[in-house]
Amino acid sequence: MLDDAAHIAPEHHLVRYSGRGTFSPGIIARAEGSSVFTEDGRELLDFTSGQMSAILGHAHPAIVATVREQVGRLDHLYSGMLSRPVLDLARRLTGTLPEPLQKVMFLTTGAEANEAALRMAKLVTGRHEVVSFARSWHGMTQAAANATYSAGRAGYGPAAPGNFALPVPDRFRPGIVDADGNLDWRRQLDLGFELIDAQSVGSLAACLIEPVLSSGGVIELPLGYLAALRDKCHERGMLLILDEAQTGLCRTGDWYAFEHDGVVPDILTLSKTLGAGLPSRPC
Ligand SMILES: Cc1ncc(COP(=O)(O)O)c(C=O)c1O
Repeated sequence: MLDDAAHIAPEHHLVRYSGRGTFSPGIIARAEGSSVFTEDGRELLDFTSGQMSAILGHAHPAIVATVREQVGRLDHLYSGMLSRPVLDLARRLTGTLPEPLQKVMFLTTGAEANEAALRMAKLVTGRHEVVSFARSWHGMTQAAANATYSAGRAGYGPAAPGNFALPVPDRFRPGIVDADGNLDWRRQLDLGFELIDAQSVGSLAACLIEPVLSSGGVIELPLGYLAALRDKCHERGMLLILDEAQTGLCRTGDWYAFEHDGVVPDILTLSKTLGAGLPSRPC
């Protein structure tokens, strides 16, 4: 594709965030509702923007009015200062959550939320080891990327010490099966933790997982798995961190996917559905 104005391929001066190949053809001039519009007048149905976060579509009039109003009144603050929107959002968000999830910290991206959750878990437990699923996606910054196994590890040199992968309980491509050929997730979970215990230096801090693996292939955990995983974590003094960047705020039918299994995590991270494409750190 050529950038018509300059007759230079965009790849000449732009680095693509991820993936192989080039940028999509056409320059996007604007977006509205479920569509994006190219400079040359084509309307494209948009299934992609914000990487699965555009739950309200583009340019929703109420969002546009709120952003316009707020940016003219108060755009950002020193982190020790408070504004009314922050207080209101914290109250409304904690109102959707059970005990002990009654305190929030607002950041900007999903990776940043997972970084903060992992730092908190390390601080609280005084340990450093982290377990996550072998097909996970938690973000592309340091600790989040070290807990991510579905992409992005090759070529960056040594990963942080103390990160372990747990096999994914995938019913359609089962790793360990029972006599009927069905996934034996309990046995798989036991074996997974046997391996982790064997490799651990006795410093297991947290397990960070998605309750529905998203980038790993939209894999739902079998009923009972999350409760069994929580027990494995708590037996070892580890915290259970659930990354609901993609599943939180009613996307799976309930407010949060963890409700399906009646398991409340020690820390919950939210992102995409909270900001709906805008950074979720209010001023
Ligand atoms: C489950 C999950 N967690 C975290 C992230 C990282 O979010 P961000 O790209 O906002 O850093 C993603 C991104 O796709 C994700 O799918």
